[in-house]
Amino acid sequence: MKSITVELADRSYPIVFCPGLITGTTGAGQDVLAVAAGESVFVVSNETVAGLYLEPLKKHFGDRMLGAYIMPDGEAHKTLDQINAIIGALLAGGHTRETTLIALGGGVVGDVTGFAAAVYQRGVPVIQVPTTLLAQVDSSVGGKTAVNHPLGKNMIGAFHQPKMVVMDVETLKTLSDREFSAGLAEIVKHAALADWEYFQWLEANQAPIMDRDSACLMAMIEWSCRIKAAIVAEDETEQGKRALLNLGHTFGHAIETLSGYGVVLHGEAVAIGLMMAADYSVRSKALIESAPEQLKQLLTAFALPILPPKGLKKTAFLQAMGRDKKATSAGLRLVMLRDLGRAEVTSQIDEAALEQTLDRFLTDR
Ligand SMILES: NC(=O)c1ccc[n+]([C@@H]2O[C@H](COP(=O)([O-])OP(=O)(O)OC[C@H]3O[C@@H](n4cnc5c(N)ncnc54)[C@H](O)[C@@H]3O)[C@@H](O)[C@H]2O)c1
Repeated sequence: MKSITVELADRSYPIVFCPGLITGTTGAGQDVLAVAAGESVFVVSNETVAGLYLEPLKKHFGDRMLGAYIMPDGEAHKTLDQINAIIGALLAGGHTRETTLIALGGGVVGDVTGFAAAVYQRGVPVIQVPTTLLAQVDSSVGGKTAVNHPLGKNMIGAFHQPKMVVMDVETLKTLSDREFSAGLAEIVKHAALADWEYFQWLEANQAPIMDRDSACLMAMIEWSCRIKAAIVAEDETEQGKRALLNLGHTFGHAIETLSGYGVVLHGEAVAIGLMMAADYSVRSKALIESAPEQLKQLLTAFALPILPPKGLKKTAFLQAMGRDKKATSAGLRLVMLRDLGRAEVTSQIDEAALEQTLDRFLTDR
């Protein structure tokens, strides 16, 4: 069984690759999850994922699974109300700090469960069992947890590292095409910010990736997780290098906010944000002119959008970018591309270049 360690001293944890473990199609690595979870287990999932994978998951725990909370599906439910409901269920079930929470689902379930685990009785262990591509390569690794506030996305949260992350690529076979592509946006982001060789590998493997070939997906998820794990190990709480992972996100969050959450998926907004960040990087003379076209080809091959929805206004967009929590109090911080495979964070904003990028992507359309 393959595994990667996220190196964080006494909070280090493994990301284990167990194809078929959750879908129940193979017994490989059967014990990993059960052993890590301990004697008392509480599962959080949503209506969709529970319908698919709760029964096979339960088999790992037997009578050690002492409860479950099934939340409604969707980003709209990434709220404090859900945290309250989970905590209510844990208290009603008499759960102590010995209970391990299991997050079975995509990034929404992972973020909600992670935050509930961070705050229940000042912190209980959580095991992430991500079932979307986005969650497998991004949200389940690194310990960021959060829920949304009406005034801003991910505005209430905590860093709380999981005890383990369990990847079953076979769960990705039931994911919709749109959600699968949304996960590929974070993968392209990883390659663009950190690894030119990975970018070329993605270009060369477009067909098997889109066919969801299991071996290819495993290799890709492992590559992305290694990139993310290395960055998190260096900068757990985003004091420096971890901000690189926000490539495309400042633009992307503005797109999500202005189009209304759920209209443009997070990964889709990241794809458009990557194009905008690349355009800005060229205009501010950091990046060669041919790079955005190469990025565009890869995103398009992965069935991702490269332009924001029509009708977004520049003033509102700028405001939404500034309100992003990733903007410092001193002003905006952007991640720009130096090359495909190399990024840097800057707070020295080239105002003219930014205006031109917004004009090109918003006003001209
Ligand atoms: N914590 C972090 O570091 C971090 C990083 C990136 C994104 N996020 C957050 O992650 C969230 C997005 O996550 P997401 O893209 O996984 O969305 P999601 O959790 O909403 O899942 C997308 C959809 O796929 C369904 N689904 C999940 N697994 C499935 C499966 N195997 N088969 C069929 N359907 C399945 C879900 O029910 C949902 O309808 C956002 O809230 C974002 O803010 C967090």
